[in-house]
Amino acid sequence: MRYPDEVVEEVRSRNDIVDIISGYVKLQKKGGNYFGLCPFHNEKSPSFSVSGSKQMYYCFGCGAGGNVITFLMEYENYTFPEALKVLADRCGVKLPDTEYSREEKERADRRSLLLEINKAAANYFYYQLRSPQGDMGYRYLKNRALTDETIRRFGLGYAGKNGGELYRYLKSKGYSDNVLKDSGLVTIEEKGTRDKFWNRVMFPIMDTNNRVIGFGGRVMGDAKPKYLNSPETMIFDKSRNLYGLNYAKSSREKYMLICEGYMDVIAMQQAGFVNAVASLGTAFTGQQAALLKRYTEQVVLTYDSDGAGVKAALRAIPILKEAGISARVLDMKPYKDPDEFIKNMGADAFRERIARAKNSFLFEIDTIKKEYDLGDPEQKTRFYHAVASKLLEFPETLERDNYIQAVSREHGIPYEELKRLVNRLGNQVGGRISVRTETREDQQTPAKKKRNPEDGIRRSQRLLLTWLIERPELFDPLRGIIGPDDFNEELYHKVAEMLFAQWENGEVNPAEILNHFINDDEQYKEAAALFHADLKGNLSREEQNKAFSETVYRVKKNSVDRMSRNASTIEEMQQMIREQAALKKLRGIRFTD
Ligand code: UTP
Ligand code: MN
Repeated sequence: MRYPDEVVEEVRSRNDIVDIISGYVKLQKKGGNYFGLCPFHNEKSPSFSVSGSKQMYYCFGCGAGGNVITFLMEYENYTFPEALKVLADRCGVKLPDTEYSREEKERADRRSLLLEINKAAANYFYYQLRSPQGDMGYRYLKNRALTDETIRRFGLGYAGKNGGELYRYLKSKGYSDNVLKDSGLVTIEEKGTRDKFWNRVMFPIMDTNNRVIGFGGRVMGDAKPKYLNSPETMIFDKSRNLYGLNYAKSSREKYMLICEGYMDVIAMQQAGFVNAVASLGTAFTGQQAALLKRYTEQVVLTYDSDGAGVKAALRAIPILKEAGISARVLDMKPYKDPDEFIKNMGADAFRERIARAKNSFLFEIDTIKKEYDLGDPEQKTRFYHAVASKLLEFPETLERDNYIQAVSREHGIPYEELKRLVNRLGNQVGGRISVRTETREDQQTPAKKKRNPEDGIRRSQRLLLTWLIERPELFDPLRGIIGPDDFNEELYHKVAEMLFAQWENGEVNPAEILNHFINDDEQYKEAAALFHADLKGNLSREEQNKAFSETVYRVKKNSVDRMSRNASTIEEMQQMIREQAALKKLRGIRFTD
């Protein structure tokens, strides 16, 4: 499905974003922009902004952002071609007919067919649960303290005993064996056809747009496996979805609760914790973290209190951290999981546990501590060393010091001693690393140590792009100093190339740049965010100036450093020496008046 870039851009530019969004959101003019209540998350005060000059929208609350096309895609749940068609009709542009390659069209058709089948199956299970045959399932759910309202809200159902009913039902609706096979709901083999799920209560799994993409089914009783899940299909990728997020995304809480299971999400949401999601038995993934990051920057882990749950939490913490989400860990004891806890102690007690949830770093220290016998002086020393080297994960001295204080308080380690130990270990590690970077970049340094400066570099590159979009007059003084190649992060490099080219052609047009990222959900969100940072904050003119030249310096320095590591020919060396000299002069240069 590829339309020529010019067509996409024509449709985009002929539909004014303020016009379109006004049809959905009440906007008020404030300065050069319009503000309103964000349609993508629940809020009471407006943080959703629409810029007529940039032809973009951005929500400072939830990070949703994009141009007029992506707005319709998100709001109306349209695919890209659908959104483009609506906008094209609106402004009278005729779209070329050959928008899909045959293959792409077939895939798209098959996906929507699978969604249809899943929806039909969910309906079927749902009505089974209410019928006399489903009585067992219904009583099971009621026994587990679910209300009728909850059963309805989560679309819970029942798969009958015979094991062929769903297949017959779907066949009667006209679906072919060929497509039913791909749905994962039936097994079609030589020796016969069976429903995958039978005699189970059914949990439809929905994506964030409330579309059913798969199922989990629980046996009633103790048979194995306890839960059976849909296999991965064209529409169901376990590692990219979170159960309950379709509801949790509109909760008003600042944080999300992450748990292990279907019943935990349902029990929590029923008790009023609508912000609960589950990773469904699979280990928490980076894609799930990225998905969550769209809605929150804080989570509370409510995994089971057993060994497996602790392990799952320890695995999830760095993944969340990497995605920019901070985690706390809830103590469920003496109960096994949120479902049990709430059943026994009630919502208020659970709320209290949430408030007392432990900072993830301190939780990690607690688990490390269990590995040592602190009655033994040698092991105790080793524990202190382990703590000190863990504290080195914090690159910022202030933050690190806060944690040194917290740990020393909690574990009765004398503060000054611990601090000294951390600094000593830090010097050793630091020395080793600087020697390494001088020799070869790609030698294996511990991942954690490498990541932190990387973040800073990404941040500088991102910031510089934002500055340039916000104030294109800054391009001029940068001429000959900074170019697209100084941005090494893939996405930023792409954006920089287009942005510099636009500037050369006399017009900076961020909404057009976004057209190029529409087909990649993650990328377009990140690109959209680039175009809307609240740069000015409360900075004075002087401070802004300083911040900008500091950012320019950092981006350039990183780029020159990279070049000097990779330079191999004489020309490259000479070029590098010239750049290094130029870099020296860059410090403190004034770009704005
Ligand atoms: P648990 O075994 O902790 O289940 O597995 P639970 O949620 O407490 O189940 P109940 O309360 O006994 O009904 C947690 C999650 O792991 C996945 C499911 O998603 C489950 O909710 N799981 C578990 C499976 O996929 N298959 C299994 O056989 C067991
Ligand atoms: Mn349970």
